[in-house]
Amino acid sequence: MASSPVSKADFIVVANRLPVDLERLEDGTERWKRSPGGLVSALEPFLRSRSGAWVGWPGVPDVEVEPFEDTGVHLHPVPLSAKEVADYYEGFSNGTLWPLYHDVVAPPVYHRHWWEAYVRVNRRFADATAEAAGPGATVWVQDYQLQLVPAMLRERRPDLKIGFFLHIPFPPVELFQQLPWRTEIIRGLLGADLVGFHRPGGAQNFLWLARRLLGLEPSRGAVGVRTRPGVVPNGDRMVRVGAFPISIDSAGLDALAHDPDVQKRAQEIRNELGNPKKIMLGVDRLDYTKGIDVRLHALGEMLAEGRIDPEDVIMVQLATPSRERVEHYQQMRDDIEGLVGRINGQFGKIGHPAVHYLHQSVDRKELVAYFCAADVMVVTPVRDGMNLVCKEYVATRHDLGGALVLSEFAGAAAELTSAFLVNPHDLDGVKNALQAALDVDPAEGRRRMRALRRQVLTHDVDRWARSFLEALGAQETNNA
Ligand code: ADP
Ligand code: F6P
Repeated sequence: MASSPVSKADFIVVANRLPVDLERLEDGTERWKRSPGGLVSALEPFLRSRSGAWVGWPGVPDVEVEPFEDTGVHLHPVPLSAKEVADYYEGFSNGTLWPLYHDVVAPPVYHRHWWEAYVRVNRRFADATAEAAGPGATVWVQDYQLQLVPAMLRERRPDLKIGFFLHIPFPPVELFQQLPWRTEIIRGLLGADLVGFHRPGGAQNFLWLARRLLGLEPSRGAVGVRTRPGVVPNGDRMVRVGAFPISIDSAGLDALAHDPDVQKRAQEIRNELGNPKKIMLGVDRLDYTKGIDVRLHALGEMLAEGRIDPEDVIMVQLATPSRERVEHYQQMRDDIEGLVGRINGQFGKIGHPAVHYLHQSVDRKELVAYFCAADVMVVTPVRDGMNLVCKEYVATRHDLGGALVLSEFAGAAAELTSAFLVNPHDLDGVKNALQAALDVDPAEGRRRMRALRRQVLTHDVDRWARSFLEALGAQETNNA
């Protein structure tokens, strides 16, 4: 990482976090590490290939960092005070918007001072972006933390081409209408030239709200996937609204899974786990939307009913620490760790737990080794905008082995229809799907995996980004 003279960029990603987080170590030194979450996993490889700029928060409060370059990407850090982290990030973004947009699976909290911090921080992001962008540049604003930035940026820099993409679900209109600042959010998003969602349903909800809350006259036709965007006439501009399902660096993961070191590590993992007949795997940020409790309850009941033998089947859950100061997350961590303890207490043996639980992030190669070692990948969110983990698993299974159990409530379910699809609210259904995946006939398993891989390998993150930027009319932008 090197400090570089600040040049104006022609292509800029704006996201709450930079792709790297500043980490302060106990000995007082600092280092940068990869930021958590699907947004960074998806956008980082794309932006590197394009050598653009990225505006975002360095991940810790009260630090001022000069712009610097990280392997070809110009990073522009936006500082947040500790109070702003509490009010804008933990508060409005993750205590109000996150649960509201995820079907109120936890009750959203509406505080005026959180909203005021959200406005103030969005303004700072808009200022930093206006400063970093060259004339006529393309700016791609990301996710729910920055929904006011498109309109604020347009006010400052009408010359820019502005896209916005929402990485989480856009909620049903009845739920969105709870938000005291609903009109301001819709107006903020309409500052973009193109507003993108994962699924047509999200785009459709947004069009309805633009009519209902702002009295605009959006198009009425059905929005397609990557085709037939809706249109909202907004003053002298036309805002397009479309569906662009995000994906992963499929070829990169496929290549990593072919690495002999990774295959060797996969075998080592199986050995370290005592060579059980079957390994089930969960990989998530530790978030209450991910349904980690659902799969643990299912496993506990299957063990209790003798449907599976703890000698034969074990479960591994990797859980990245996330939003640890937000109350619902603390509660959920206690619940999950209590469940793991109860299952192991009842069904484990010394040196042979039924569930291996790691509250840690692992590096990319290690993660792929886990994917290659797992017979059943369990992805059971109660609501997820897309979910990249399930696509990552599929991309690593060139051997056509393994089986995917996937919640119908993940955006990915619309594409990965050959998975064992489950309703995470139906515990018996989840148990039956786990059983079916554990017992799948090898030929049937290969057939399903082949179909899943066809989808994931042909619809990768590059295709996602290209389709969005083409719709924005920005595909041929010069590099920074
Ligand atoms: P979200 O964006 O809500 O976190 P996604 O499934 O879309 O959910 O993306 C999560 C990303 O984080 C994936 O790229 C996944 O591989 C990565 N990830 C999740 N948990 C871990 C973990 N324990 N260790 C390493 N990477 C992880
Ligand atoms: O994909 C949803 C998302 O909230 C991203 O915006 C974010 O980068 C990721 O999950 C991780 O969350 P956080 O940045 O709050 O740790």
